[in-house]
Amino acid sequence: MKNIVLIGFMGVGKGSIAREALKYSSYMTIDTDDIIESMENRKIKKIFEENGEEYFRKLEKRVAKWLETSVHDTLISTGGGFYKQTNLQKIGTIVLLDSPFDAIIKRLKEHPNAKRKLKKRPLLADLKKAKKLYDERRPQYLKLADIIIDVTEKSAQECAKELLKKV
Ligand code: S3P
Repeated sequence: MKNIVLIGFMGVGKGSIAREALKYSSYMTIDTDDIIESMENRKIKKIFEENGEEYFRKLEKRVAKWLETSVHDTLISTGGGFYKQTNLQKIGTIVLLDSPFDAIIKRLKEHPNAKRKLKKRPLLADLKKAKKLYDERRPQYLKLADIIIDVTEKSAQECAKELLKKV
């Protein structure tokens, strides 16, 4: 099975949709942020604070190389900026989880762990800047995607089932 690479903006639900999809398929799953945190033995927030974004992007590049050469049959959920990796197509089928910015933020704020979900993402600290980032990235996400899933007001289970049907 070809890998599936889930891309999309922060908070759109890449991790939870990937975990849900496992229940209905034989894929494995990994998350690029989790790999980076274990490589560094510290949280993404700390990496940004202590070494800056550029350093974090270098780690993403290293993960992208490893995914391309060594990972198969896997549903890969990626950080919102991982789409910039030039070898994305070589890693697997690219699936964009898409939703308007306001819907993403509303859903994050309504989540029982809202505080933690917002706090752990340094690039969501300033929502005006985050909206600008969203507007810059969305056309690029759309251009890269082999498959697009609109996740707005759908459960992770609904999205996972739609994902497995479309790949
Ligand atoms: C980032 C998204 C985050 C994480 C890091 C940077 C981004 O992942 O990789 O904070 O540039 O959009 P999520 O998309 O899982 O929040």
